[in-house]
Amino acid sequence: MKKIEAIIRSSRFDEVKEALSENGINFFTFMEVKGYGHQKGETHTYRGAVYDVGYIARMKLEIMVSNDFVQPAIDAILASAKTGEVGDGKIAIVNLDEIVQIRTGLRNESAINTK
Ligand SMILES: Nc1ncnc2c1ncn2[C@@H]1O[C@H](COP(=O)(O)OP(=O)(O)OP(=O)(O)O)[C@@H](O)[C@H]1O
Ligand SMILES: [Mg+2]
Repeated sequence: MKKIEAIIRSSRFDEVKEALSENGINFFTFMEVKGYGHQKGETHTYRGAVYDVGYIARMKLEIMVSNDFVQPAIDAILASAKTGEVGDGKIAIVNLDEIVQIRTGLRNESAINTK
């Protein structure tokens, strides 16, 4: 089991959600995050003036999946979140020791409603 943590452009959120759903992944946690990439901050132009906002607003998705769904999830995110421009974000794949479904007490693969 893995936790997939994807930092994506907020503008791609709907596409990523749809792509995951098409691959049977209808559950994830998301949050608005701020961060820096290699290019440091980001500039915004407002009425001709360029402002450095100092950070980049992104969305972070966290998805707990069984091993069968790791590669499909990565592929779905790559296909839907990539623009090819710098700043597309990153995907981290993290090992999970254990998952517990609170309602049933079921653990691990049984606790995630995949397949
Ligand atoms: N090594 C990292 N650790 C944690 N978060 C990161 C890391 N790299 C990028 N991020 C997060 O992803 C966001 C987007 O980063 P970005 O895609 O610009 O990374 P990059 O390494 O500069 O790649 P690129 O060359 O495609 O721009 C950052 O604002 C930050 O929130
Ligand atoms: Mg960058």
